Amino acid sequence: MSGPLVVAVDGPAASGKSTLAKKLAAALGLAFLDTGLLYRAVGKRLLDAGADPSDERAALEAVASLRPEEVDAERLAGERIGEVASKVAAIPAVRAALLPWQRRFAHTPPGAVLAGRDVGTVVCPDAPLKIYVTASLEERARRRFEELRRRGQAPMLEAVLDELRERDRRDTERAVAPLRVADDARVLDTTELDAEAAFRVALRWAEAVAARCSAAGPAGLDRNP
Ligand code: C5P
Repeated sequence: MSGPLVVAVDGPAASGKSTLAKKLAAALGLAFLDTGLLYRAVGKRLLDAGADPSDERAALEAVASLRPEEVDAERLAGERIGEVASKVAAIPAVRAALLPWQRRFAHTPPGAVLAGRDVGTVVCPDAPLKIYVTASLEERARRRFEELRRRGQAPMLEAVLDELRERDRRDTERAVAPLRVADDARVLDTTELDAEAAFRVALRWAEAVAARCSAAGPAGLDRNP
């Protein structure tokens, strides 16, 4: 590989994009960043401080003082933090403040797989491979429901479905960097695929792009498929 390879993996909540992106990063020897954790970490700060999730000043203070050890998947799991994160994520100044950090991470050799909502559209629009992972709302709700049960909770399927529907609405309708399929993204619908089958499809795409980029030299890395 002649330069950092960036793979953008976007998609709605509970689509399985983070699991897929993490496995892809491990297989390709790239770094992995779940960008949702950045918004979740800011959201948790506001929750802990009892601040309003749409308070721009409090959110920007949280961004400025965020420590890497706070960006931890286990401590940031849960639908409540996810919901606050999606409110924080609708503040343009918060998104702008988190952008340089994400870009630096992506372009540090040997490259990275980033999972999120706007990686292919805003954070890394030049990524040579963009994957949009999706699944039906009902299937995503079923997976999230099972995940919560595995964590020892007693969720209601209807409530999980409503929460996901509301989060989809907020993520797709916000004014800045809304969730959408990048024009040059490959869509991976996992409604009928298990995690392993989805991974095999994505890996095939990634290996083909990595080989092409490698053959094209550094300039080729900035070109989309
Ligand atoms: O992916 P996850 O559910 O952890 O993300 C939490 C929230 O953070 C999302 O609902 C979304 O509003 C926001 N987010 C975002 N842009 C990203 C990643 C996450 O707006 N790149």
